Amino acid sequence: MTSRNARYRVVVLTGAGISAESGVATFRDAGGLWEGHRVEDVATPAGFVRDPDTVQRFYDDRRAAIAVVQPNVAHRALARLEDALGDDLLLVTQNIDDLHERGGSRAVIHMHGRIGIALCRSCGKRSAAPTMLLDRPPCPYCSGRTLRPDVVWFGEVPHDLDLIGRALAECDLFVAVGTLGAVYPAAGFVASALDAGARTLELNLTVSEVSSIFDEVRMGRASELVPAWVDELLAELRRTA
Ligand code: APR
Repeated sequence: MTSRNARYRVVVLTGAGISAESGVATFRDAGGLWEGHRVEDVATPAGFVRDPDTVQRFYDDRRAAIAVVQPNVAHRALARLEDALGDDLLLVTQNIDDLHERGGSRAVIHMHGRIGIALCRSCGKRSAAPTMLLDRPPCPYCSGRTLRPDVVWFGEVPHDLDLIGRALAECDLFVAVGTLGAVYPAAGFVASALDAGARTLELNLTVSEVSSIFDEVRMGRASELVPAWVDELLAELRRTA
């Protein structure tokens, strides 16, 4: 293992696959969320304008489903990695659930937003989302009944891209977990990391759309691959310290 300096910086990108074994449906697997819904209807600003009730119901149902599931060993392994690496780990998730936080991670970048947060379309402030947005609860700041889920829809800009870009440019290792690599910009992170000279590793159940450009691909369940990889990395860092 080589590092450009004394630090060993790691960027981990997670997708729906890491939460699958907790019981959260993925998007594009068989039986996934997009099977019963058109993306244009429930995950675009235009879809929301056309039929806000359908969109609110879709996210209310997802919020309720996420509230009753638990983080799994893969989430907890990444929390252990943060304990060991501190600021040298940047954990970026495309997931809108809070399973990383409930698994013990403290600093998580939710590039596609969080279902537990409501964004007011009138005043722009964020607040904890009530159980249901379908019945139009008032914004706690401006009282407008204009709350939407604080999730990034297709056509909107993901959060913290500057911060993520800087971390990718400086990292020694980039690891993608449980993501199909079908949605940009996240699917392009591996190429950015490679451009920056980092090593790249993919942990996924199936071949992804970007598997071919990773230095290494390990296939299997996140619950097995992630804890094993974290143990391996921590042992290697201890050896080379
Ligand atoms: N362990 C590891 N990987 C798994 C597991 C598992 N137990 N179960 C499924 N996977 C993998 C699948 O093989 C697939 O490659 O997780 C991936 C899930 O892919 P998608 O459903 O496309 O989810 P993701 O890549 O996170 O989607 C990205 O698309 O619709 C948008 O905003 C949404 O954040 C989402 C983005």
